[in-house]
Amino acid sequence: MAIKHDTGIATEIIHQFDSKPELLVQVLHAFVDRYGFVSEEAIRQIADELNLSRADVHGVVSFYHDFRTTPPGKHTVMICQAEACQAMGSRELTAHAERKLRIEMHNTSEDGNVSLEPVYCLGNCACSPAVMIDDKVHGRVDAGKLDKLIDACRGSNDE
Ligand code: FES
Repeated sequence: MAIKHDTGIATEIIHQFDSKPELLVQVLHAFVDRYGFVSEEAIRQIADELNLSRADVHGVVSFYHDFRTTPPGKHTVMICQAEACQAMGSRELTAHAERKLRIEMHNTSEDGNVSLEPVYCLGNCACSPAVMIDDKVHGRVDAGKLDKLIDACRGSNDE
């Protein structure tokens, strides 16, 4: 779960890696483990404490898919982008999901409910295209099935 940035805790995390700029990737992973994402404040503090420019840190954050810069949603929808799923239409399915959620990959819907992420093979190639929602894998997902799955996980938030 995403929690608010705390400069004291951030300093502790950075010190665990001896403030070494060459350990930037490990520092960023530690931030994602702690906060669920790497905020703009975190990027600023990491850059200052590792004696790097913000552009350096931004460059690494944007290079790796694991480092999201916005808080994760309550649910994560991962659409497989690997070969077997692509051959069965996962790109079109991704475009459909982006339209439905009004976001692009690596982002979270405005209501904070759903994050959309790529994944590279879910071990379900025989039933492609495959999608994982939270911890559950679904096979042979078309646009209609994806809509139902997303609506169901959004509905599960209702009191
Ligand atoms: S390629 Fe998508 S599940 Fe293997």
